[in-house]
Amino acid sequence: MDKIRIIGGRPLEGTIDISGAKNAALILMAAGLLTDERLVLENVPDLADVETMGQLLAQHGIAVDRPAPRTLSLGGAITNVEAPYDIVRKMRASILVLGPLLTRAHEARVSLPGGCAIGTRPVDLHLKGLEAMGAEIRLDGGYIDATAPHGLHGANITFPFVSVGATENLMLAASLAEGETVLVNAAREPEISDLATCLIAMGADITGIGTDRLAILGVKSLHGARHTIIPDRIETGTYACAAAITGGALLLRGARPADLGAVLATLAQAGVDITETPDGLRVSRRNGLHGTDAMTEPFPGFATDMQAQFMTLMAVAEGASMITESIFENRFMHVPELNRMGARVNVHGASAIVRGVPTLSGAPVMATDLRASFSLVLAGLAARGETIVNRVYHLDRGYEAVERKLAACGADIERLAA
Ligand code: EPZ
Repeated sequence: MDKIRIIGGRPLEGTIDISGAKNAALILMAAGLLTDERLVLENVPDLADVETMGQLLAQHGIAVDRPAPRTLSLGGAITNVEAPYDIVRKMRASILVLGPLLTRAHEARVSLPGGCAIGTRPVDLHLKGLEAMGAEIRLDGGYIDATAPHGLHGANITFPFVSVGATENLMLAASLAEGETVLVNAAREPEISDLATCLIAMGADITGIGTDRLAILGVKSLHGARHTIIPDRIETGTYACAAAITGGALLLRGARPADLGAVLATLAQAGVDITETPDGLRVSRRNGLHGTDAMTEPFPGFATDMQAQFMTLMAVAEGASMITESIFENRFMHVPELNRMGARVNVHGASAIVRGVPTLSGAPVMATDLRASFSLVLAGLAARGETIVNRVYHLDRGYEAVERKLAACGADIERLAA
């Protein structure tokens, strides 16, 4: 398993090109199941998860071509409605093929994703919503067996709490269902709006984009389209933390500030200087960082996918911070690793108290999940001495060319092939 070696203490200076959003790319690829015609996606990030989703679609019968760099062309008829355990267990987002398979092929057999490091990650809201739309669903041998012999019909669905994946799965299902589906308490993440924009380009009828009430009027069929994926807001926030924690200055080229919601305001409150420019976001830090509280919430609140990275930043801030994780039940696994580097973090249930320290010290650490792994890279960039981050396959799932992007801005970082 590859490792990453960092010698810390060097301010990052330069430009980082923000890649296409992982969490938009995956759902947009699943939308390729909704038509036999070509769906061409541009600004596709080069990530392990995108590769896995491509393999999943290919075994459903969808041709997955790469006509140009960062471009995917998807097309073809569905020939297999089963999403096998050995792919789904690698990437939970595989569950997002359930809605399109059901609405298009009227049946689906998708392995239950199972939990992951950050939580049990149930999919009950996905299943309840599809049942409300007429699907018959059985759980059998770790698989979801779903049928809709007469196709799906519209329904009024109110989510008890915000779920990005459930909102996305039901949007795809509703786009070809008979009649209107209204999703209340729908997720409002930028990736949802990006999906809606792409579906409309394919001929879908969707209103309420950007709000928590989406109305989708099913159409007979969808056609091909060409869609450019939005920039990755989590990558943007992550590299903003890298500029701040190293006391450098970075231009995050292509970043869309509005997509960061409360993250920008919280970083500014902590003492990070953020300026919008025609090219993206310029991030630096003139003075010290000070302890700032954060609570993760659905968009436009503070993104849970930024919690671990922000915690590392607060680990070297002046004063204390209270960081509360309200979305996932086990998303503090970076804490023991940060504490091994000299951070002072105490977890109490869903909250962590971070008492800032002047500096961190390099150490061998273990990545546990995607965002936690980058929080350790951030710690290594700021720490005195050498840090070795183990199990960096986690990093490769969601961040493109980390060492290249960081080394080009002055970081002393290299990948050690295991
Ligand atoms: C998406 O996951 C993202 N993944 C996650 O990003 C992100 O952290 C999350 O949304 C929240 O923003 C992708 O888009 C591929 P949810 P998702 O459904 O859809 C519970 C990353 O690092 N829940 O909004 O799975 C769930 O357990 C990843 O890029 C149910 O209980 O998240 C969680 O506690 C990590 N039942 C909460 O809701 C359900 O049926 C929010 O989950 C569905 C979810």
